[in-house]
Amino acid sequence: MSDFVTIFEMGPRDGLQNEKEFVPTARKIELVDRLSNCGFRKIEVTSFVSPKWVPQMADAQEVMEGIYRHPAISYAALTPNVKGFTAARKASADEVAIFGSASEGFSKKNINCSIAESIERFRPLLEKAREDDIPVRGYVSCVTDCPYDGPTPPEKVAEVARLLLDLGCYEISLGDTVGTGTPETVAAMLDAVLEAVPATRLAGHYHDTKGRALENIAVSLEKGLRTFDSAVGGLGGCPYAPGAKGNVATEAVLGLMADKGFETGIDREALGEVAAFAKSLRSVDA
Ligand code: HMG
Ligand code: MG
Repeated sequence: MSDFVTIFEMGPRDGLQNEKEFVPTARKIELVDRLSNCGFRKIEVTSFVSPKWVPQMADAQEVMEGIYRHPAISYAALTPNVKGFTAARKASADEVAIFGSASEGFSKKNINCSIAESIERFRPLLEKAREDDIPVRGYVSCVTDCPYDGPTPPEKVAEVARLLLDLGCYEISLGDTVGTGTPETVAAMLDAVLEAVPATRLAGHYHDTKGRALENIAVSLEKGLRTFDSAVGGLGGCPYAPGAKGNVATEAVLGLMADKGFETGIDREALGEVAAFAKSLRSVDA
């Protein structure tokens, strides 16, 4: 099995989307540019979503068009529908991500439709992406727990993950949106998902609300996953998952990978400096 782990940096998007104070566009661009010097291959830059739903991401176009493009990096954006996809393409996103949920309650709150409706909404987006040769990543949220519906059945996660893969997503990122997953619930979820989707097409996206994200990554590594999402400085939270904290900090994930002997290609010292900058973008009470 490969000893290389891909880290998908989430700080500029998942990290900043929940900040109460608007982070100036120039600071967002600076964050992405600094991250571009750390050795990442994947950075999620912004979201082309409704500015009424997530005001912090209202400057998606300016950010995407303002960043320096390192040729080795794929700069990604969230796109919930064709409108978002068209805007992301116009701003030259290298890849996009659709985001569904394994729980009905979160799907409704986050994207204002049922799981079944979301799949139908994603279908034309995937068709356009195929025509344009743009890779699409798929998120499944609430893979262990939902803030509205309670514990999520692992079989439901497997079903939605498979649906997104069959739609044409190149990878499925499994989101512990609220960050209450434990090694036990994550392992049970992965056992079900791995029956439907191979480990090579999966990523772990764990929020760190209860401080167990690193353990959840460790168990995911044992199950064969080799891609993880994390946010520099542990920034973040989801506006539609009350109480959820940020993604696991990228610095901490790099520490875990070094301990376990996995390569990431990321410069830890350079990233440490970016983490300090990232934290400075936080508003005090966020
Ligand atoms: P809706 O209100 O049902 O959509 O929202 P609509 O099609 O009826 O449109 C309503 C208005 O939004 C219209 O404008 C549209 O033009 C506009 P109006 O006529 O009222 O002026 N609109 C858009 N504007 C810009 N970009 C777009 C877009 N689409 C419609 N793409 C919608 C449905 C999906 C748009 C909305 O619910 C939404 O934007 N949701 C996004 C929520 C979000 O971004 N959540 C955070 C990201 S997900 C996350 O953090 C989880 C993750 O990290 C994984 C994990 O941790 O689990 C990925
Ligand atoms: Mg998230």
